[in-house]
Amino acid sequence: MKTVNHIKLEHFSDEYLDDLKSFELPEEQAQFTALPSKYSEVTEGQFRIVIVNENEPVGFFLLHSTERVKEYTDNPNAMLLTSLSINQTNQGKGYAKQAMLLLNEFVKTEFPNCNEIVLAVNHKNIPAQKLYSKIGYKDTGRRKMGPIGEQFIMSLSLYINGK
Ligand SMILES: CC(C)(COP(=O)(O)OP(=O)(O)OC[C@H]1O[C@@H](n2cnc3c(N)ncnc32)[C@H](O)[C@@H]1OP(=O)(O)O)[C@@H](O)C(=O)NCCC(=O)NCCS
Repeated sequence: MKTVNHIKLEHFSDEYLDDLKSFELPEEQAQFTALPSKYSEVTEGQFRIVIVNENEPVGFFLLHSTERVKEYTDNPNAMLLTSLSINQTNQGKGYAKQAMLLLNEFVKTEFPNCNEIVLAVNHKNIPAQKLYSKIGYKDTGRRKMGPIGEQFIMSLSLYINGK
């Protein structure tokens, strides 16, 4: 049974640093993402988001509103999501799903100009593809070669019917 309790999304702050640095993934998963320890610094237009369960960081991802987004979509109001990970010890508890569902409201509040989230998922990363499909992301049909092979570009529109 899934044990989603009090998941929330927070902007990165130093209080989470030590926990984020200790994140681990098995080798077969690590190839698909970058661990949060890679992002001790970010550039303008990159935003570190921490997935927090009852005050403990359990996951992490990056949102981008940089020039890089143009490689994934023609929409100037889209943001790119990368480097999603749930720390190994906390996987399979529904945290990623809950976090991705919360992301819609989070983006509306924190980035009100954003009306679409795009992401790239490796063709071999079936768990992540299932996750994104389950919460409404659609395969755009676009393909992009990543460091370890073809990636599907998936997208979620945030403002349906102008709401
Ligand atoms: C993909 C990842 C973020 C999922 O996190 P999680 O918290 O374990 O996922 P959840 O428990 O919220 O599961 C949500 C859905 O994802 C899918 N899923 C998650 N793990 C899965 C697995 N091992 N096999 C198949 N499907 C899986 C399922 O559809 C699941 O829904 P269900 O339990 O109702 O069937 C996590 O496995 C991870 O960090 N992987 C390594 C990094 C990575 O691949 N990131 C994505 C880069 S695009």
